[in-house]
Amino acid sequence: MKDLFGQALLDYQNNNYTEDIITSTNISEEDTLPLPYLFRDYEDMTKLEQMALELAKGYILDVGCGAGGHSLYLQNKGLAVRSIDISEGAISVCKTRGVNHAYTASLLDETEHFDTILLLMNGTGIFEKLSYVTKYLTHLKSLLKTNGQILIDSSDIQYMYEDEDGGLWIDTNANYYGELDYYLSYKGQKETPLTWLYLDFVTLKAACITVGLNCENVQDGDHFDYLAKLTISE
Ligand SMILES: C[S@@+](CC[C@H](N)C(=O)[O-])C[C@H]1O[C@@H](n2cnc3c(N)ncnc32)[C@H](O)[C@@H]1O
Repeated sequence: MKDLFGQALLDYQNNNYTEDIITSTNISEEDTLPLPYLFRDYEDMTKLEQMALELAKGYILDVGCGAGGHSLYLQNKGLAVRSIDISEGAISVCKTRGVNHAYTASLLDETEHFDTILLLMNGTGIFEKLSYVTKYLTHLKSLLKTNGQILIDSSDIQYMYEDEDGGLWIDTNANYYGELDYYLSYKGQKETPLTWLYLDFVTLKAACITVGLNCENVQDGDHFDYLAKLTISE
């Protein structure tokens, strides 16, 4: 990984903001990811993110913390937060912004126990593929303290396969429709392609049941998105 995402965050933090990140997927054209959005504060967060932050309690793990906006909000509320990201640039930005416990680390290497685990801005993306969901959910469950919760957002992207007449062109022989090849470029450089998973609520809930997690839809968003709360089944 070249860490172009981290480089872009560093540029924004260091007042070198000249360009946004460009993303595309195997089913969609190029799109712009504005750098200021990655530095949004509470007022500019989605209602699902705001809800997740209000539900967060106890000792918190912010997985894929990016520029640290969620961590900073919770920290400023007096909560203890551990913030992790695989992007060194992101963690450097977090530290500069005052995130107290920010570490370059991958979710699967995490071993501490938490009251709340946050995965926000399409949190299921980190699972990469449908076939890895059970592995990630099992690991997340192992990190929960008694009565702990996982707060995760995602979207049902079936709408992206609709043609102008409302018909669907999903290839039922292909991989799960939310499993996308994701391309990112920044300042003319291309990042190593990655797989990014959008998971509909019904599929997430079914996977949760297989690993002994309850899955509740806390709130629907404005555009096929939702916030889910996962807890250990009795
Ligand atoms: C879409 S960004 C979201 C950033 C931030 N949560 C936000 O809402 O602005 C996803 C983040 O997850 C990080 N990430 C991807 N895979 C990860 C993994 N296995 N463990 C930890 N972080 C990961 C990426 O580096 C990136 O910063």
